[in-house]
Amino acid sequence: MQAPTRPSDRQAAIFISVAVGIVVAVVTTAVFWWVYSLVLAPERAAAAIAAATPWSPSDGIKVITSAQRNTPTDGRQPWLGEQAWTEGVQAGQAWVQANPNTVNVQVLAGMTSAQIWTYMQQYVSGALGVGCQYCHNIQNFASDEYPQKIAARNMLYLVSDVNAQFIVNLPNWRGNYVQCATCHNNAPNNLESFGVQFIKSVPDILVTVDPLDENGVAITDPALKPEALQQPISLQDSVLYYVYNYFVWKPFDPNVPESGRGALALTYDGGRTQEQVTINQNVMNYQAWSLGVGCTYCHNSRNFVGYELETASNISNPQYGYNKLKAQRMLQLTTWLKENWTTYGAIPKDAIPSELQGGASRFSYQQIDGQFYNVPGCYTCHQRAAIPKGAINQTAIPEGDTGVVILPPVLRGTP
Ligand code: HEC
Ligand code: HEC
Ligand code: HEC
Ligand code: HEC
Repeated sequence: MQAPTRPSDRQAAIFISVAVGIVVAVVTTAVFWWVYSLVLAPERAAAAIAAATPWSPSDGIKVITSAQRNTPTDGRQPWLGEQAWTEGVQAGQAWVQANPNTVNVQVLAGMTSAQIWTYMQQYVSGALGVGCQYCHNIQNFASDEYPQKIAARNMLYLVSDVNAQFIVNLPNWRGNYVQCATCHNNAPNNLESFGVQFIKSVPDILVTVDPLDENGVAITDPALKPEALQQPISLQDSVLYYVYNYFVWKPFDPNVPESGRGALALTYDGGRTQEQVTINQNVMNYQAWSLGVGCTYCHNSRNFVGYELETASNISNPQYGYNKLKAQRMLQLTTWLKENWTTYGAIPKDAIPSELQGGASRFSYQQIDGQFYNVPGCYTCHQRAAIPKGAINQTAIPEGDTGVVILPPVLRGTP
């Protein structure tokens, strides 16, 4: 073996500067991950439990039957409590006997009354944690007299469109569909799209947003920015801006390195401002918290720009390599949801309700056309699980009539 030669001064200088560079990079990254995992460790444990126990209709039905009977003031019959549940189900049974064919069914066309009765109990009432009376006058199931039923019908269209446009054609789709329970998680309204962790962890400071244009070039002149961004806004609101105004300006192409660039790209065109880096980081944190995962669930930590179709670093399951692409599609989904929310039936409010924990309402409700709507975000579906607990996997849907009442074919988004 040859004895090592003494390095020249020049070699030593290069060696030292490279070594210092590596140390700084490693220390910075390590500190970031250390802080991150301190914050995230309990969340991850919760996510592991959630993923192991998918939502089941009995969870939602238990919410109904174990509640106190409620006393509505708007003309509807009570929809909570054991008795209300039994009355609704039995009235439905009588209706089905009298009307074996449906009367006023617009989305679930082709199903029999009996099939609809079963689907309603398990996957509509069950998903929202409310009895039939929330939407129906149980003397006449065909009547559209309550706005909640109209909203629910629009949401049937929503499920169908979301699955068709954003889910079943995901790259490397793992077979999970969106259904009512995916967003509702046993509650009819006040769904949490930005959890308490978001409010606690995103500092309350003002930032200047320089959005990218359709060529990926930063817009720095306030006069050329969208109106909402002409003044500095809170960092929290800047995260919301990206979750609901995402676009892709250079679509992913496996043969083109640095493709798949969108509104959150940082490293293009000579770099971005420090504030823009902070904004990007907080959007990334929001995504990671919503799914209960770390950065390497979506990224190769040696190349944040790239899209891995195989295994990203630190990850042993090759399927995870597609996660950044899936996340990009999901940012397009939340953007689409906000843009189309008034046509998909959520009932607007005059003011932001204050029910959500820790002030989460202010972020979970958005002003659209002068009224306030609860709008879904990543957290609404994911609730700290990479695969939403309330999604339904195709392996849980048998073929034929048994499967029709679990997720009616028209809602699956596949022809
Ligand atoms: C969240 C609102 C909601 C709840 C709760 C709900 N339904 Fe429905 N139901 C609907 C909607 C919307 C339709 C119409 C579907 C369509 O147009 O495709 C419908 C249709 C029906 C129909 C067919 C009526 C016809 O026109 O032929 C029956 C029967 C029915 N529901 C029974 C029930 C029963 C029984 C329950 C309780 C176990 C229930 N529903 C709970 C929203 C609801
Ligand atoms: C993409 C997420 C998402 C999906 C999927 C979804 N919903 Fe909704 N839904 C919402 C949100 C958000 C609201 C607004 C809640 C609020 O205003 O507090 C809402 C509101 C409603 C309302 C009105 C509740 C009220 O009293 O204000 C009904 C009824 C409803 N959904 C039924 C359904 C049914 C039935 C399905 C399945 C066919 C479904 N939703 C699927 C997100 C979703
Ligand atoms: C759920 C998936 C997901 C997670 C988790 C995630 N990211 Fe991202 N990341 C993305 C997506 C999608 C983009 C958007 C790329 C774009 O718009 O061009 C992105 C972009 C970035 C960029 C900009 C890359 C570029 O093209 O310039 C950086 C840097 C980054 N992420 C860092 C992180 C860090 C650090 C974490 C951990 C806190 C993290 N990400 C967590 C999905 C994720
Ligand atoms: C309407 C519900 C819904 C919303 C909102 C939503 N997701 Fe998803 N997401 C899903 C479903 C369902 C799947 C599973 C798809 C599959 O089987 O491949 C999924 C899968 C993913 C995956 C892949 C996970 C894996 O292990 O395969 C990532 C990453 C992801 N979502 C990120 C996000 C981000 C980031 C947001 C917000 C910008 C978001 N999602 C918003 C429903 C949703």
